[in-house]
Amino acid sequence: MKRHMKENVYWVGKIDWELTKFHGDEYSTHRGSSYNSYLIEEEKVVLIDTVWAPFSSEFIENLSKEIDLSRIDYVIANHAEVDHSGALPELMRHIPDVPIYCTANGVKSLKGHYHQDWNFKTVKTGDTLDIGNGKQLVFIEAPMLHWPDSMFTYLTGDNILFSNDAFGQHYASEYLFNDLVDQNELYSEAIKYYANILTPFSTLVKKKINEVLSLEVPVDMIATSHGVIWRDDPTQIVKKYLEWADDYRENRIAIVYDTMWGGTRRLAETISKGIKEADPEVDVRLFNNAERDKNDVVTEIFRSKAVLFGSPTINKGILTSMAALIEEVKGLKFHGKKAAAFGPYGWSGESVSILTGALEESGFEIVSDGLKTLWEPDEQILEEARQYGAEFAKKMESL
Ligand code: FEO
Repeated sequence: MKRHMKENVYWVGKIDWELTKFHGDEYSTHRGSSYNSYLIEEEKVVLIDTVWAPFSSEFIENLSKEIDLSRIDYVIANHAEVDHSGALPELMRHIPDVPIYCTANGVKSLKGHYHQDWNFKTVKTGDTLDIGNGKQLVFIEAPMLHWPDSMFTYLTGDNILFSNDAFGQHYASEYLFNDLVDQNELYSEAIKYYANILTPFSTLVKKKINEVLSLEVPVDMIATSHGVIWRDDPTQIVKKYLEWADDYRENRIAIVYDTMWGGTRRLAETISKGIKEADPEVDVRLFNNAERDKNDVVTEIFRSKAVLFGSPTINKGILTSMAALIEEVKGLKFHGKKAAAFGPYGWSGESVSILTGALEESGFEIVSDGLKTLWEPDEQILEEARQYGAEFAKKMESL
């Protein structure tokens, strides 16, 4: 059933309460998600984006109950990723000649996914499309927010920015708007989404937002493709994005480790004690990475000003949960965060240098050679770890 947003604009998407993993198994969605599609019924009828393929039949069936599909004049594909374009093949079987407006990269991407020669109309930033009643759609290319093909579509008159992935959250809710939901839940999903998906593109995020702000157009709603629509103070999330894109950090330190027999855990706990003794204000958090959700750990790293990674040495390497995290963190390209490593060993002892090298390669500023300790920590080693924590805290003073 379509849901009213403003004037002649409706939400016609799918709320996916069951979703627990997104991007294959790469992103945990503890609160589900939604695939937002929008219908504009002016003199011209416009459909903006669709839903993920498993819901395409349901989507077409529901949409057909709301509107005779042959009345759709234009389809806008803001982004070709399958969670938004998945119902296009089924839709286009009903309306094969209807033009699909997207960027040049959108054409490549849609053809790459579906191998169809639909009636593509390529648009660039500043191009407009009249939809009658004095209203226009204005297109704004937004490459890498989230893919090279991504774009925003702005509806004049109603002042709605259809931003696709940008400003979204994997957050299923029967409420349509931001002011109706639990704000802590909303922001915890929004920051997780930014940390795990948009961090590598922070420079582009800042540039694009400043470009859009410089247009000085009124924005009454930001209608994203996932989660709730921002209608109450909609630019609050834009301001947050500018903060998050600017080497974001809170007064937190994340100690992330994996442990075999508890030695690395004891080091982690004692380092934490040393940090707190030196700086009672800082919020130190410990995560046994093997027991935690990867995306939640990434969000904690995103919020921290520094990280300590720990692993014992095994087979001249590190434990696999830490190796997987390193792979993730390398791609996210964090900036403005300090780091060091720690870990016990019995004979060869490579883990600290492996972790330190990987953290450096991932863009962290390495503040010490790390803490490498022999066998199980005894009182003397634990005292060394406590002092190491205190020294680590003092190295944060420039932040
Ligand atoms: Fe929600 Fe990049 O797709």
